[in-house]
This record gives sequence, C-alpha cells and structure tokens, in this order.
Amino acid sequence: MRKPLIAGNWKMNKTMAETKELISAIAPKVKDADCDVVVCVPYTDIQTAKRAAKGTNIKIGAENVHWAQSGAFTGEISADMLKELKVEYVIIGHSERRQYFGETDETVNKRVQAALDAKFKPIVCVGETEEERESGMTETVLLRQVTEGLKGFKSKDFDKIVIAYEPVWAIGTGKTATATDANNTIGYIRHVLAKKFHRSIAEKARILYGGSMNVKNCKELMAEEEIDGGLIGGASLKADDFAFIVNYDK
Ligand code: 13P
Repeated sequence: MRKPLIAGNWKMNKTMAETKELISAIAPKVKDADCDVVVCVPYTDIQTAKRAAKGTNIKIGAENVHWAQSGAFTGEISADMLKELKVEYVIIGHSERRQYFGETDETVNKRVQAALDAKFKPIVCVGETEEERESGMTETVLLRQVTEGLKGFKSKDFDKIVIAYEPVWAIGTGKTATATDANNTIGYIRHVLAKKFHRSIAEKARILYGGSMNVKNCKELMAEEEIDGGLIGGASLKADDFAFIVNYDK
C-alpha cells in the first residue's frame, strides 16, 4: 500500500514573515490528515518553516539540491547545508528548472544521488511540454526522463524517491489533465518502472500528479488508482485551499 502524499511547492514565493503566518495557518487545518503533508519552500524560509511546523504533521522540503559537497557553484545549495536545516524532502528536476535553468536528466540524476546520500526524500519531477504532447511524444519523453533521471537507483532507493508527473502545459495555466488522462500517464510511468527497474519498484513507488491541481479537481484526481498524491503550486500558497486538498478524503 502506498501512502498518499500531498506536497506544496511554494516556488519563489513568501518572505520569512509570510512563511510563519502561512505555516501557522495551515497546521491546525491539516492536523488530522491521513496522507503525508509536505511543504517545499525557498531556502531562506526553511528555518522559519521548520520552527512553525514543529510538533505538527507538516514536513518541510527544499526546492533543489546540488550534487557537489561544496565549491564554486554560485547560487546553488549543498546537501550538507540542507541537512543542518533538517529538511526531509527536496524537489528535483522541476520543469521550471529544466526550462529556465538548463536542468537535464543527467543533472537530475546527480542531484537525486546527492539527496539520497543525505537521506532526503527526493521528489523527482517529469512531464512533457505542450509541443511534445501535440506531436505525440509524451511517452518517449517520460521514458527518457524516468530511465535517465533515475538511472542506477536500486529498490531500496525507491522507498524514498517520489516521482511527480507534471505536464508542463498544465502548470500554472489552469488547464489540468483530465483525471483519466493523468491516471493513464502515471500508469505508463509505472509501466516504465516495471520494465526498466523492477515490478516491485513500480508497485511501491509513489507517483504524484502536479499541474493546476486545486480544490475543484483534487477529489477526482485523488480517486484515481495510479495517482498517489499531488504536487501543488498556486493552491499551496493559500492555507484554506492547501488544507482542503490535503483533506481530499474527508
Ligand atoms: P500549479 O499548481 O501552480 O499549476 O503548479 C504546479 C507545480 O509546478 C508544482 O510543482
């Protein structure tokens, strides 16, 4: 049985003061959640978020991690730095990183390794662009992203690795994949895991949907068999909306 997971991705939003306020507003509303609750925040907000989430069921994550231990990588962050902040999750390979900051399957692979070495749970994002979808390339793209991005990882690593299927055309656009479409595509990712890794990995890996998931569509998406949770952007910035999604089964 895979435990559902609802994760917020705050992207480049919220100051420290706003972080304290938002986490404190979310906490009482999600305290009876049946799923894992994660909030991934900007680096500068991590310490504040950890403090505000202390004693609650909210886990805090970062939005990226570099593969090197230290060195001349201006603007990057190392696993050791995040470890001191005691983050539990880290988003890797988000499409915004791939699109605007040159992230590739190879760098994704290295970042996932660094995250696992630090005992973080990586949330690895995959997904096709609108052009790729329209030219019938969705499965080819996902096959490449999953096999290359997760190359070399073993069964025990998949106790920690979470995959997020985020079709790029659905992110921040208000366009969501239909629940059936999202379910089928996530089913395809599971099929890739079974073929390229092992059937037991396909069965245990948690795969989330992300892309304009909100209070209106969360119940329908979460009712699908293959969908183990959500990675929520815009709606995770509002306490009521995020809590509603976390409590999708109530
Ligand atoms: P939206 O929920 O704003 O579409 O963002 C999804 C996302 O990119 C989460 O990582």
